[in-house]
Amino acid sequence: MKLTEELEAKFNAQITLEFEASLVYRQLAIEMDLIDLPGMATWLRRQADEEIVHANKFIDHLDARGNHPRIGDIAVGGLDGADDPKKAFEIALEHEQKVSESIRDLYRACDQAGDIDSNPLLNWFLSEQIEEESTIDEILGRLDHTGDDGPGLLRLDAEMAERPNRGTEE
Ligand code: FEO
Repeated sequence: MKLTEELEAKFNAQITLEFEASLVYRQLAIEMDLIDLPGMATWLRRQADEEIVHANKFIDHLDARGNHPRIGDIAVGGLDGADDPKKAFEIALEHEQKVSESIRDLYRACDQAGDIDSNPLLNWFLSEQIEEESTIDEILGRLDHTGDDGPGLLRLDAEMAERPNRGTEE
């Protein structure tokens, strides 16, 4: 069953936000590369890919429902100070919190409209957001533990380089 025009617009805003998340993570990866933390840069690049997977899930949903997926305007800003690992992951967490709120909003709108068919997709995303916020929160906690300890930071960086490359077509 086709989504209402209002819901289509909300899903399209979510598609745009997921692509925005991808670009934010890509920029943060660049910042980590520039300060010689290649493991964190790799981790952030993998996350940039995962955000494209997320956008594609919403695109596929609109397509399957007979609606028209559209990518809106994207501007990546507000990344001042991202040349510091702690600040970079704080920016990442803030963006994830924004995405989580947007998905909750989408969930409420679908619920109100009685759009049961979006439930499986949105339930998946609600769980995914809990996991993503928790992962970044843990990285921030570990960064706090390393403090000014250079070798500790390099160990964490080496560990983060191990994140598997799943590409954008998961
Ligand atoms: Fe697609 Fe990280 O939320």
